[in-house]
Amino acid sequence: MKVTTGYSRIQIALHWGVALLILFAWLSGEGAEEAMELVEDGGVVGFVPHVAIGLAILTLVVARVLVRLSRGAPAAPGVPGSLSVKAADWGHRLLYLLMIAVPLGGISVFFLGLEVGQIHGLAANLLMLVVLGHALMALYHQYVLKDGLLRRMMRAD
Ligand code: HEM
Repeated sequence: MKVTTGYSRIQIALHWGVALLILFAWLSGEGAEEAMELVEDGGVVGFVPHVAIGLAILTLVVARVLVRLSRGAPAAPGVPGSLSVKAADWGHRLLYLLMIAVPLGGISVFFLGLEVGQIHGLAANLLMLVVLGHALMALYHQYVLKDGLLRRMMRAD
């Protein structure tokens, strides 16, 4: 993987755009559950914002992974090979995995009719927990270690 000095404008836009969409998707989860119950009772459901947001997230995350594979990303701050750098790398991998697995779970429920709604909900809650830890670590770097980490996701380089 190519190591760069910073994130590009497109990487930064995708990071914050997807973060916002994930928040909307999580908040609209209950509305989608009610819509599914209506379908199971033989009702007809029109536009479901949660489903549209989920499909947008999946599309943008795939784009994000492709951009990352072609352009690369900056190394996590700290001593290469240290526990904190490994934790950051694995934390990011887990975020990518969940950002792909959660929408795929939603597609399995809504379009394929598989009964994995509960697993989809649990995985979404796990994603929110990992995101919370990720955001706290970013704020810790910015305001306690004062290493300017947040700036990497604000200004393109
Ligand atoms: C749904 C919400 C979020 C998701 C899914 C997410 C996901 C990610 C991922 C996967 C990366 C690694 C990028 C890469 O190198 O390929 C990353 C980097 C980063 N994120 Fe987030 N993020 C979210 C929210 C936030 C928030 C709220 C903050 C700030 C409080 C934040 C700050 C950062 C920073 C500073 C980096 C760069 C870390 C570095 O350069 O090592 N993120 N994010």
